[in-house]
Amino acid sequence: MIRSVVRGIGSALPRRIMKNSDFAGMVETSDEWIAQRTGIRQRHIAADDETTASLGEAAARAALDNAGLTPDDIDLIVLATSTPNNTFPATAVEIQNRLGMRHGFAFDMQAVCSGFVYAVTTADLYIKGGLARRVLVIGSETFSRILDWTDRSTCVLFGDGAGALVLEAEEGQGTVADRGVLAASLRSDGTHKDKLYVDGGPSTSGTVGHLKMEGREVFKHAVGMITDVIEDVFARTGVSAETLDWFVPHQANKRIIDASAKKLGIAEEKAVVTVHLHGNTSAASVPLALSTAVADGRIKKGDLVMLEAMGGGFTWGAVLIRW
Ligand code: UT7
Repeated sequence: MIRSVVRGIGSALPRRIMKNSDFAGMVETSDEWIAQRTGIRQRHIAADDETTASLGEAAARAALDNAGLTPDDIDLIVLATSTPNNTFPATAVEIQNRLGMRHGFAFDMQAVCSGFVYAVTTADLYIKGGLARRVLVIGSETFSRILDWTDRSTCVLFGDGAGALVLEAEEGQGTVADRGVLAASLRSDGTHKDKLYVDGGPSTSGTVGHLKMEGREVFKHAVGMITDVIEDVFARTGVSAETLDWFVPHQANKRIIDASAKKLGIAEEKAVVTVHLHGNTSAASVPLALSTAVADGRIKKGDLVMLEAMGGGFTWGAVLIRW
């Protein structure tokens, strides 16, 4: 059977780093509160000339370099984002243009923090369906642009950045020994909309709006939802917490990561944690974490890697990849 194998990976971060201490004088908070409750120490914040498209392009170029490929080799770009440059056209098409691609097709996906997990799953199906041979899957966000910088309960949590993968069709045996995307489990439940949303949009207020979150409520649901989809993937593949090599979770809160790993019986040292460096970068968080663990030599060819995310909607999901 056809498998979607990871051929390259890359990431990009805005130049400016904002440390927890930089909130002094802006909102009533402290480095201690942010670090203890979330694990976050710093985040990158986009300057005016840094956008979801420019960060996405930079991550895509890094992934192409890593793969030894050029934009000519790509058939499809899937961009996961909730902070597009414009309401339309899709920012993926803008990235396609920035890369100088005059062939193929590109579109955006919107599943908030689960966007990258949804996008990898979608790209895998396009490859398996024969519509594309090589796909750039990008997660890129500029959440700093939709934050209410006077609301301490949200503005300290998020950051900007981008990550990208190149997936390529390869013949596999149809077993978990194959390289590539092995299984996925996706879920959504719109009854939770009011717990995490943006209070604007083209068809309602006509404005971009600001992020609103009932953090405690999201926290309450997160661990159960994350562990459900991972257990589903374990059941369908026969992979277990013991045989898994790396757990690459959405980077929202260190406490959620720790509690999910503990509930699943995944050893602490298998969890890739970058939340202290990037904060919550929504759809960019999983590829940024992946990129970090590949660059530092932890994730190697042949390793079994579980990606997971949960966010606004609610949406949630998990993808198992043999690197
Ligand atoms: O990516 C999408 C998924 N999102 C998430 O996974 C986020 C999930 N939620 C969380 O990570 C946590 O709920 C938060 C980090 C958002 C909050 O942590 P918490 O332990 O649930 O705190 P809390 O909301 O229960 O607030 C505790 C206290 C409150 O004060 P009172 O009511 O106890 O007096 C807040 O007003 O902390 C206060 N607080 C702050 N204090 C200092 C809220 N934000 C801040 C702040 N600095 N920035």
